[in-house]
Amino acid sequence: MSTAKLNLNGQDYELPQMKGSEGEVAIDIASLRATTGAVTFDPGYGNTGSCESAITFIDGEKGILRHRGYAIEDLAAHAEFSEVAYLLIYGELPDKNQLVQWKSDLADNSFLHERLVKFIDHFPLTAHPMGMISSMIASMSAFYPSDNDPEVADINFRRLIAQMKTMAAFTYSWSVGKPFVYPKRDLDYCSNFLRMMFGSPEDEYEVPTVIRNALNMLLIVHADHEQNCSTSTVRMVGSSQANIFASISAGVCALWGPLHGGANQAVLEMLSAIEEDGGDYKKYTEMAKDKNSGFRLMGFGHRVYKNFDPRATILKKACDDVLDHLGLSDPMLDIAKNLEGIALEDEFFVERKLYPNVDFYSGILYRALGIPVNMFTVMFAMGRMPGWIAHWKEMGEEGSRIHRPRQIYVGSTAREYKS
Ligand code: ACO
Repeated sequence: MSTAKLNLNGQDYELPQMKGSEGEVAIDIASLRATTGAVTFDPGYGNTGSCESAITFIDGEKGILRHRGYAIEDLAAHAEFSEVAYLLIYGELPDKNQLVQWKSDLADNSFLHERLVKFIDHFPLTAHPMGMISSMIASMSAFYPSDNDPEVADINFRRLIAQMKTMAAFTYSWSVGKPFVYPKRDLDYCSNFLRMMFGSPEDEYEVPTVIRNALNMLLIVHADHEQNCSTSTVRMVGSSQANIFASISAGVCALWGPLHGGANQAVLEMLSAIEEDGGDYKKYTEMAKDKNSGFRLMGFGHRVYKNFDPRATILKKACDDVLDHLGLSDPMLDIAKNLEGIALEDEFFVERKLYPNVDFYSGILYRALGIPVNMFTVMFAMGRMPGWIAHWKEMGEEGSRIHRPRQIYVGSTAREYKS
């Protein structure tokens, strides 16, 4: 076994090396404190492997993203969201019979418990849908068995994926005063969601194919992204053996922040502000370069991607295709492309390897689909649900230890308490 040598205070230590299936090298420091008395320091965990995982591979330098070995470009172009969900959770693409059964299970589990539906009425009209959905997901543990037995968990995976779309559509209907449209068993995941969002209980709703396909692709592109902030949160909470509803509700909250999934809402707000300000996008790239302005180009930059985010490439092309197909033009798309153009040439962004990320173009597509801005992060959560579940399951199966990082204490040393 290869080792890494550490010389600490004049003494040599050997640390085991690990190698991933794509050749990434890691130094196993799990016994470092016991053998040397020292801990490692890595604020923001930018250089810390917190687990071994077989779900998603990213090469940030080359712009590669693969789920269980399959390239995101192939999955986004050819797969069904429900199929990708199965792949992430169970490790292999479903065969024909498995896929039929899985889709039928998802359709059957789409209905919220009626008492959970009543929850929605008690939120103030100003409530953000992410707050509503995270509390509803945590509350699912009050309605369904939530012990971590694999058979119980398996049904809960279906409930979470299927009911997420119903919660999303119901929070929107409630916010605009539209009657709830209940799911239909014979519709696929995306058509069901779009009908609940935009149809009415009485009328048949013809789901436009372009819109359904664009939504399917958007959900796939968001389905997993290894140890990002919300997934690490799900793993962190789950490592205490908290139930899946509690763990995923925490993941929804982590996703909400503007530096993570909340960036898609922030991007559209930024593009609207630029448009209202006369479209002077150069002014905003200058502001982003000025650290004192407190302004960042939302949808730019990524902890892992240092060349391009393959999801942003897929979405940029989809924006052009979908808007073209629907005969729409969106001034936000022009502003976004201008911002990208400037930023990709400007030394500040080039030096720091700041490129558009997944959130930069997704909002323009959501707008074309008729999704309101405050629902953008909810759409991200719908897509990410299978990824969160896959990681929660993987973590449980490998018998992960409770997650409990160390710290470097920098506070007061011991002092005497005087009453
Ligand atoms: N605009 C302007 N400058 C930026 C931006 C940005 N969007 N992002 C990073 N920088 C600068 C930083 O000021 C810093 O400069 P410095 O080295 O001179 O101090 C440098 O680039 C590195 O930035 P960090 O904040 O250290 O990078 P980190 O990896 O911690 O953060 C993050 C990554 C949060 C994505 C960051 O780039 C950001 O805030 N982007 C905007 C929000 C966003 O789009 N988030 C969505 C990310 S994708 C996702 O989670 C789904």
